Amino acid sequence: MSAAARLDGVEACVFDAYGTLFDVHSAVGRHRARIGEAADAVSAAWRAKQLQYTWLRSLMGRWTDFAEVTADALDFALDEARIADGALRRDLLDAYRSLECYPEVAGVLDALRGGGMRTAILSNGSREMLDAAVASAGLASRLDAVLSVDDVGVYKPHPDVYRLACDRLGVRREAVCFLSSNAWDAAGAAAFGFRVVWVNRFGQARERLPGAPEVEVDTLGPLPGLVPG
Ligand code: LAC
Repeated sequence: MSAAARLDGVEACVFDAYGTLFDVHSAVGRHRARIGEAADAVSAAWRAKQLQYTWLRSLMGRWTDFAEVTADALDFALDEARIADGALRRDLLDAYRSLECYPEVAGVLDALRGGGMRTAILSNGSREMLDAAVASAGLASRLDAVLSVDDVGVYKPHPDVYRLACDRLGVRREAVCFLSSNAWDAAGAAAFGFRVVWVNRFGQARERLPGAPEVEVDTLGPLPGLVPG
């Protein structure tokens, strides 16, 4: 992996949503005072369980959409923190529909599209959740497509999910630059055959999985220079 590489031949930039464009911890951040000192632990457990439930349900063959998985994961996290507060639960789930997006996102999407690049989201999120978050962050007009696993019925990193982007955008996998802050998602996308940029926002260690990202950055900021349109 190199931070100086340029990716030639890219026709579309496809973004993971949660953690990559949207700050998943901004939901708890908005209600931090009501949760108290357990806030960071609740947010971390909520996210960890949410991801685990997507993988476990995929293995079990028991699909349910990301809104349900997200609510189940929050229930686990609140239970673990011994918090029983129905109004807080409702407000946290509402906040998940209007998460903050990272500060560089809008400018990067504008720069990519200004250079003729196509842009899309490919996310585990349900269509309804994604549409709400995209609208709330003002990203709708900056994206050519918002693709949800709802149309596949299994979660990333199953290859059928990554294939959805090729099918819907009409691009070969080698012509897709996939961006994710989630190292396991970056690995899954690279194993599928996408060109992958890992947005390592949290300074995480590299995953030991098949599929390696070509480039590692710490924000999306350098992206327009990496994929000349
Ligand atoms: C997504 C999760 C994995 O947006 O962050 O697909």
